[in-house]
Amino acid sequence: MTTPSHARISKAVIPAAGLGTRFLPATKATPKEMLPVVDKPAIQYVVEEAAAAGLSDVLMVTGRNKRPLEDHFDRNYELEEALHRKGDGSRLAKVQESSDLATIHYVRQGDPRGLGHAVLCAAPHVGDQPFAVLLGDDLIDPRDPLLRRMIEVQEQHGGSVIALMEVDPASIHLYGCAAAAPTGDDDVVTVSDLVEKPEPGEAPSNLAIIGRYVLDPAVFEVLRKTDPGRGGEIQLTDALQALAADTGLGGPVHGVIFKGRRYDTGDRGDYLRAIVRLACEREDLGPDFRAWLRSYVTEEM
Ligand code: G1P
Repeated sequence: MTTPSHARISKAVIPAAGLGTRFLPATKATPKEMLPVVDKPAIQYVVEEAAAAGLSDVLMVTGRNKRPLEDHFDRNYELEEALHRKGDGSRLAKVQESSDLATIHYVRQGDPRGLGHAVLCAAPHVGDQPFAVLLGDDLIDPRDPLLRRMIEVQEQHGGSVIALMEVDPASIHLYGCAAAAPTGDDDVVTVSDLVEKPEPGEAPSNLAIIGRYVLDPAVFEVLRKTDPGRGGEIQLTDALQALAADTGLGGPVHGVIFKGRRYDTGDRGDYLRAIVRLACEREDLGPDFRAWLRSYVTEEM
């Protein structure tokens, strides 16, 4: 029999309660997670990533106005029946795909008190197992599997694992930032210090936290005691900082350095870049779209 701490990680938590103000007015009545990236809502890529890493139990932490998320991952019998009657098997498969990806649960955050608070809302569902957190604004290219590697590192070292990416020092103030020391593995570091969105000149490195975490459940106890930090919100980074500083609280914090493709769909410019890149790479749309883009760039710009 396996002990709880060595049980295979199976739960993913996706915080999705944010207001999406950067995309107003599109997000006035539509959750930002539902904005399409080519022809799939951004959130579906994230659930697909969790499922591909073997996480079959997904908890979404939502809020008011997020009902379309529940509808998207549920069956739509009326639509399925209509497509079935038309004999449109390929669209029918697309419609059914999102409801077959994982078992999805929902909890409401109520008061939006920050990412740390959103993660804390998952405590009753997660229980005493390590679990993953995936932030919906970060899309990780499926060809560069990050989460699977993070789970492997967590199984090897215990404690918690965060995803880190080197960024231009001029933009580190937009992220959580880690001070870290090398380990025997090229892509793994031991995290000694974390700062949420450091002031210019105060960042301990140019290693930015990107939105993937594999967390020891001890993080919940720490979050309960974490005071509001940057922006007056309860920050997950601050709780992880406490875990990194005192491994007696719940094991060490390691970082996996990610060098693959990441798209930030929370920023309008990056969102557009993500759509263009993914559309160019699609087998069905890519050839035509690339040809158009090439002529658009040479003739119009
Ligand atoms: C959150 C985290 C931050 C992390 C970022 C990654 O910030 O608090 O540490 O670097 O996600 O996308 P947010 O972008 O939600 O303000």
